[in-house]
Amino acid sequence: MKKFNVGIVGATGMVGQRFMTILENHPWFDVKVLAASARSAGKTYTEAIGSKWAMDTPIPASMANMIIMDADADVEKIGELVDFVFCAVNLDKEATKALEERYAKAEIPVVSNNSANRHTPDIPMVVPELNPEHIKIIEAQRKRLGTKRGFIAVKSNCSLQSYVPALFPLDKDYGVEDVLVCTYQAISGAGKTFETWPEMVDNVIPYIGGEEEKSEKEPLKIWGKIEDDVIVDAEKPHFTAQCLRVPASNGHMAAVFVRFASTPSKEEILKAWKEFKGRAQELELPSAPKQFLNYFEEDNYPQTKLHRNLENGMAISIGRLREDTQYDYKFVCLSHNTLRGAAGGAVLLAELLCAEGYMD
Ligand SMILES: NC(=O)c1ccc[n+]([C@@H]2O[C@H](COP(=O)([O-])OP(=O)(O)OC[C@H]3O[C@@H](n4cnc5c(N)ncnc54)[C@H](OP(=O)(O)O)[C@@H]3O)[C@@H](O)[C@H]2O)c1
Repeated sequence: MKKFNVGIVGATGMVGQRFMTILENHPWFDVKVLAASARSAGKTYTEAIGSKWAMDTPIPASMANMIIMDADADVEKIGELVDFVFCAVNLDKEATKALEERYAKAEIPVVSNNSANRHTPDIPMVVPELNPEHIKIIEAQRKRLGTKRGFIAVKSNCSLQSYVPALFPLDKDYGVEDVLVCTYQAISGAGKTFETWPEMVDNVIPYIGGEEEKSEKEPLKIWGKIEDDVIVDAEKPHFTAQCLRVPASNGHMAAVFVRFASTPSKEEILKAWKEFKGRAQELELPSAPKQFLNYFEEDNYPQTKLHRNLENGMAISIGRLREDTQYDYKFVCLSHNTLRGAAGGAVLLAELLCAEGYMD
């Protein structure tokens, strides 16, 4: 694979920092641009980030002294330096959409972590193992935008990246009908650490703005189908969600109850999880976990602290599968919210887009 020059828009944010650490030694991608708001532009990365660096490893040496570009004012200059950008900015929905579209129209493909475009019908929202075929909608999107190369592709919300991967492989044979899910979400999902959010120490907050709606609605786009020039959401499964913020630094856990059209045995569910491979595994993408879905037999597994980093934080951990008195089954699953759920998931999507020729 040829090397691609990439930019990180929102590099000073929590997700931006993750992009930097993941991309430091990436075999296909070279980081050439770090961009953020006008407040940070013109400073070296180290000056701009100050004490906000929240990763366990130091700022990558190759990026520490890069001068931050202005994500808004420097779009054309950025376009001369990169093949595509990753985008994770903290702006309102309309401003985010406008920014992403400016990049796309400047012929700079955007792989986005932001939620603003997740329900734009010709923008694919992709988990590479689950709905890789949705990237074909990019041709229709390019027609709408009037671009040759430029497009926007997004990844889904972090909360659903634990339970949707576990349910998806069961749908074809057994028909997933109704799902009740409670998520237990880490504070990094809010861009926070215990230092910046001391109220979260020894605390649980039963509200994450907008999260329950996203957790119920976004899976239906992932299950959706391309029809003409749009992706049409599926009508099933039906999801209901409660999302809680818990005192974990990283790692979103989900407790899932599921009802099927045709109820599988426990062995059939375990077999489906063990054998499931997606396009990311078939293509052997650099960030793809070898084993995507991992079931643990121990009663007290998976645990946030022990299992969130499985396969570089890109694999899903599942446990406690058992029959339920009201639904057919219940189980627990876990994914790393800023790796699989954010920057890692976006890097994997970018790898898929490169492998399938969309970044040429
Ligand atoms: N944290 C997660 O786990 C997670 C997971 C999935 C998706 N997301 C999504 O990813 C995005 C970023 O989240 P985050 O947690 O990384 O946020 P964050 O830590 O608040 O970082 C926000 C970034 O946006 C930049 N920014 C702010 N205003 C800007 C402007 N006017 N123009 C250009 N850049 C601007 C900031 O630059 P300055 O430093 O210069 O202000 C900073 O780089 C959000 O859309 C969020 O919903 C987050």
